[in-house]
Amino acid sequence: MAVIPGDGIGKEVTPWAQQALEKAAGDAASFTYENFDLGAERYLRDGQILPEEDLAAIKQTDAILLGAVGDPRIKAGILERGLLLRLRFELDQYVNLRPSKLYKGVTSPLANPGEIDFVVVREGTEGLYCGSGGAVRRDTPEEVATEVSINTAYGAERVVRYAFDLAMKRRKHVTLVHKKNVLVNAGDMWQRIVDRVAQEYPEVTHDYCHIDAATIYLVSDPQRFDVILTDNLFGDILTDEAGAVVGGVGYSASGCINAKDEYPSMFEPIHGSAPDIAGKNIANPTAAILSAAMLLRHLGFDEQADRIDAAVEADIAELGSTQRSTDEVGRDILARL
Ligand code: NAD
Ligand code: IPM
Ligand code: MN
Repeated sequence: MAVIPGDGIGKEVTPWAQQALEKAAGDAASFTYENFDLGAERYLRDGQILPEEDLAAIKQTDAILLGAVGDPRIKAGILERGLLLRLRFELDQYVNLRPSKLYKGVTSPLANPGEIDFVVVREGTEGLYCGSGGAVRRDTPEEVATEVSINTAYGAERVVRYAFDLAMKRRKHVTLVHKKNVLVNAGDMWQRIVDRVAQEYPEVTHDYCHIDAATIYLVSDPQRFDVILTDNLFGDILTDEAGAVVGGVGYSASGCINAKDEYPSMFEPIHGSAPDIAGKNIANPTAAILSAAMLLRHLGFDEQADRIDAAVEADIAELGSTQRSTDEVGRDILARL
């Protein structure tokens, strides 16, 4: 198992996720952990972001537990692209799976939230994240900056299939979210692939929402969603909003999954390194701990994953509304395992 705590609160929440993993796994799985010193401190010390030997070692592991990367001392994008996105791309983690559930005991900012339980299947390797781009006449009034969005039928179809398979295990509804009224090439391609694949899943209903409208429905009518299927950038934005709706990104776990198991998958909270609260021992470690449960489930340890989910659920139900430090929440959840 590779462990990459990374930066900021990543370093504070990851040890709790690792301990929860270890405790829940018990005798069923004896993992060995390999800690990777990657992130801001490493970069500032020796200029390394993701050395080839580290990448090779990570490729040999069963799975990766990651905290967060990014540091205000370092130009935006260097670590995010060079470390996090490089891992997602090199390991072909094309499904970015992001469940949202409103736990009993968590206060949602919505007045009448009702039951909220949906999953975003975010494409993880394409779109605006992977295209080339550049700036010409930089720092002049004539500057032109480009970022190219790359969308392939191969890349879309594999996540579309994943989303429909997932829907079969849930409430059997898929909502494609895109912006096909403006992004007429990629949007149209996604829609055609969804329509074609849907024919193989007669029990699954599907509909479509433009991304801007989807941000409305996420707060006005979140119950309409079961599986949200979307591209890389829209999925990034929508899942932070989803996190807020279910009480904060501190409850939002994710998996960057290579569903063909050619490479290890990576499990991480959806949030970042949160420089505004780093070092204060106030970050919520729940998302990281729930990510450890997703990791266990991915490796086939369903029972052990269920134990973490149940411990988190019970913890929130009883103590969710109390002010607790990172370490208190971590200890409370561990005590229930
Ligand atoms: P962020 O997710 O780090 O923080 C957004 C807000 O949410 C902040 O107010 C923060 O205090 C709060 N927050 C986040 N996690 C929390 C937790 N566990 N408990 C309580 N509050 C929490 O996003 P940002 O501020 O836009 O980005 C900070 C840095 O993190 C940037 O460098 C960014 O690139 C990076 N980032 C990394 C990842 C990742 O590694 N997966 C994800 C998002 C952002
Ligand atoms: C996330 C983050 C990353 C993303 C960044 C840090 C590259 O925001 O995991 O949601 O955009 O995917
Ligand atoms: Mn994000």
